[in-house]
Order: sequence, then C-alpha cells, then structure tokens
Amino acid sequence: MLTKLDVRFLAVVLISLGILALAACAQAQPTPTPTSAPKPTVAPVKPTAAPATPAAAAKPTAQVTPAASAKPAAVSGIPLIPASHQPIEQRAECLACHKQGGFMPAPASHAGRTGDTCNSCHQAKPAEKPPVLNLVAAKADKAPTLDGAVEDVWNKAKPLTIHVDGGINKGETDVTMKALYAQDTIYFLAQYKDPTESLRRQPWVKQQDGSWKALPGSEAYEDKMALLWNINGSIKGFNEQGCAATCHGTTSGRDKPLKYTNAEGELGDIWHMKIVRTNPVGQIDDQYVDNDTKSAEAGRKSDAKTAGGYADNKKEGQATPPFALPGNKPAPPYWILDSEKVPFDDSKYKAGDEVPGIVIAPFAGDRGDLSAKAVWKDGLWTMEWSRKLQTGSKTDVQFDSKGEAYFGIAVFDNAQIGHAVQYGVTKLTFEQ
Ligand code: HEC
Ligand code: HEC
Repeated sequence: MLTKLDVRFLAVVLISLGILALAACAQAQPTPTPTSAPKPTVAPVKPTAAPATPAAAAKPTAQVTPAASAKPAAVSGIPLIPASHQPIEQRAECLACHKQGGFMPAPASHAGRTGDTCNSCHQAKPAEKPPVLNLVAAKADKAPTLDGAVEDVWNKAKPLTIHVDGGINKGETDVTMKALYAQDTIYFLAQYKDPTESLRRQPWVKQQDGSWKALPGSEAYEDKMALLWNINGSIKGFNEQGCAATCHGTTSGRDKPLKYTNAEGELGDIWHMKIVRTNPVGQIDDQYVDNDTKSAEAGRKSDAKTAGGYADNKKEGQATPPFALPGNKPAPPYWILDSEKVPFDDSKYKAGDEVPGIVIAPFAGDRGDLSAKAVWKDGLWTMEWSRKLQTGSKTDVQFDSKGEAYFGIAVFDNAQIGHAVQYGVTKLTFEQ
C-alpha cells in the first residue's frame, strides 16, 4: 500500500514540476531519470501519442538492464509489472484481467487504452525465484474433530504462515496453516483474518412490485478458499511457481482469466471450500484442473460424483424460485438443504425478503472425498478438513508419508473469481 501511495505521490510531484514523465514514456524513449527528464527533447510530445507502438517500445526495454530499470520506472510513476506475473507469456493479454470493469481494473486514467499499449509503459520486473515454503505434517495418534475449534492435538503441528494477495475486496491476508497425519488420513487447519463473513450468495430478492430478482454473483457472493495440488508432479513449473503455472489470460477470444494446465497429462487437484455450497454439509468440493481450453470453465472440472451436490434454485423460464426454506421462511440461511426443501409459496413473503439461491446436499463418490468444517468468528475464519492419504482416484493428489507434495493456496473474499493467491508454492512433507 505504502509503496503504491509513494509511487503515486512521486508521480504527482514530478508531473507538477513539469517533467512530463508520462509523455516521455509515450514517446517510447528509455524511461527518463530525474536528470535526463527535463531535457528539451523530452518535452514536446503530442498528447495523442500516448499508446506507443509495441515495436517501438520493445527496443528501449531491451536496452535497460534489470538493475537500472527498477529505479527509473518508480521515479516516473509507472508501476512495474510485478514478478507474480511470471510466466509473463501466459499473462500477455493484460486486459483479460485489467480492463475497466474487469476483476482487477487498471486506473480509470487507462480507459480506452488497448492491450498492445501496456508494455510500452509498464516494464516487467526481472524474473525471480518465487519462494518455496515448507509445511510439515506432524505425526499424531489422535485425530482432531472437524468442528472449526482448535483443540490440543493441533499443538503437535508447527504453523506455517502464507501471505496471499491480489484479490478483490479485502485483497490480501495471511493464512496460517497446520497439518497432521494419523493412520491413513491427513488433517489440515487453516486460519485467516477476514473482517466480513459473506454468506449472501446470489439470493432471490422480492421487489416492491411483487416480482422476484435473482442477484448476480457480482452483487452478492460467498467466501471461499482453495488449494491447488500438483498431482504426481505432472504440472511443469508448478513446484517452483505454484498456481501461476496454471493461470492464463484469455484464450479462444474469451475475456476473463482462465485456469488450465499447459500440456496433456498435466493434472492438478483443486480443493475448493465453498462456504455456502459445501461447508453446511461438512465438505470441501473436490475438483481438478487439466489442459482443456475449450469448455466453459476451461480446464476447471469437478471430480466424479455418484449422488448429491448443489444446484441453483432456479427453473428454466420461471421468474420465481422453485424451492424454499422449511415453512417458507425468508433467508438467512442462504442455502436450502435438499432434504428439507419445500415448494415455494409467494404469499409468505413481503418486499425485501430473500430466498436462498442454492439447494445443497453432500457429494457422494470421488467429489466428496474431503470432510470439512469452517467457522467464522470475530473476523477470523477457522477451517479444518481431512482426506485419506490415498484415494485411488486419478483426479486426486496421492500422499505418501515418506514423500512430498506441492500446493498453492488462494482466498476468495466474497468473490466469484478475483481471489488473493500465494506467490510461489508450498511443499508438504511428513514428520517421520
Ligand atoms: C490473469 C490475470 C492478469 C493478467 C493477464 C495480467 N495481470 Fe497484472 N495484475 C493481476 C493481479 C491479480 C494483480 C494484483 C496482484 C499482483 O501484484 O499480482 C496485478 C497487478 C498488476 C500491476 C500492479 C503492480 C502494483 O504495483 O501494484 C501492474 C502494473 C500490472 N498488473 C500490469 C499488467 C500488465 C502490463 C499485464 C499484461 C502484460 C498484466 N498485468 C496482465 C492480474 C493480471
Ligand atoms: C502511457 C503510459 C501507460 C500505458 C500505455 C499503460 N499504463 Fe498502466 N499505468 C501507468 C501509470 C503512470 C500508472 C500509475 C498511475 C495511475 O494510477 O494512473 C499506471 C497504473 C497501472 C495499474 C495500477 C497499478 C497499481 O499501482 O495499482 C495497472 C494495473 C495498469 N497500469 C495496467 C495497465 C494495462 C493493463 C495497460 C494496457 C492496457 C496499461 N496499464 C497501459 C501508465 C501506463
């Protein structure tokens, strides 16, 4: 935060001094240093010249050594493309994430700038080695109870704190994790600060005129948390870069960031805690990611299930919810248990009342491998979950208590997509 403010403050000061740092950039000259900037050659720039051609921009960038580039960019007020954007080729379509109204919009001053202009001003930070953290699963003889309360058995395990940022809403937080294994099962604990508990996921709202409106995800969503594991070490680069290895700008003309692996046979295991859709039935959604770029969610898929799961409380061509909470009571809660759902009766509601947007039941089968409980209290999420070390499924990571496994973690603060994510990766090892 401070760094950003500093950068902006400097930019304002320099601009007010008439240095015209931005204009200099637009001319696609090497980024000016404070001493070179006031030279007369820099000053006369046509305001329309702002989006320099990519070809012209490439040259000066190449000439600047990494060490030299850091300083001038900061002085001219142009933020560098952060190291979190490596591998940069996968993030080449800057507007997939940074368009106006997108999930990580560039400042309003950028309206109208096209994707081919970005690199003329923003230079990439030199590639660096992202941090590799280590979480050690302690050997225990007693299993913790999955109830969102931290009991003594967790004292055996050493905590690891993982910083996540880049998300919408709260944007960043620190996740403190612990792991334990006992017999054939592994247990995890994660705690992180989030000032708001977000449970209002796309409810139906009764309007003044008596009609019903289903709120979109951009207006009302749930908190979520996710881990991505490298199955069998199959994803190239994952054990160094973590999730970034599967994070892409748009593909096939779609305008949102997508998640998929880069080659056939590269598989990642996704554990997706959904506070409204899976937590109330004591589960984390067990999913995976492959190299498919064609389907709606690209490579993001769900493990196979034999029964259960969640479904929108909607019916094709119907402007009201088909189901309601027992007694046709208004929300909260913001989910309807499938076993308790009743037919919706409009006469029971007044304007402003809400009906849950989702009907839920526990997954049976591969998708239901993860038992969990998350509790929010006083601005802190506490999540506990477990899974068998070995599941036999090829869309699951398999744990060997003599081996290691790699994961990255993400936190969604009331966000469908725009999550905060760990920069780098965490290695899980086992106490012997
Ligand atoms: C897949 C989504 C995505 C793509 C594609 C992407 N970015 Fe970003 N960008 C982010 C996110 C998220 C953040 C904030 C967190 C971070 O620093 O990683 C960010 C941060 C930034 C920042 C701000 C750094 C700071 O000082 O706070 C700049 C500058 C930036 N991006 C430029 C670019 C440029 C230029 C491109 C195209 C080459 C690009 N980004 C492509 C997601 C993306
Ligand atoms: C003419 C130079 C110029 C061009 C072209 C340009 N930017 Fe910027 N960008 C800046 C400057 C200067 C800032 C910081 C001042 C501000 O906030 O406007 C900035 C800020 C940003 C930030 C916010 C960083 C932060 O600190 O939060 C993002 C993200 C970003 N730009 C992305 C882009 C993307 C994506 C493109 C291409 C569509 C682009 N920029 C094109 C000059 C430029």
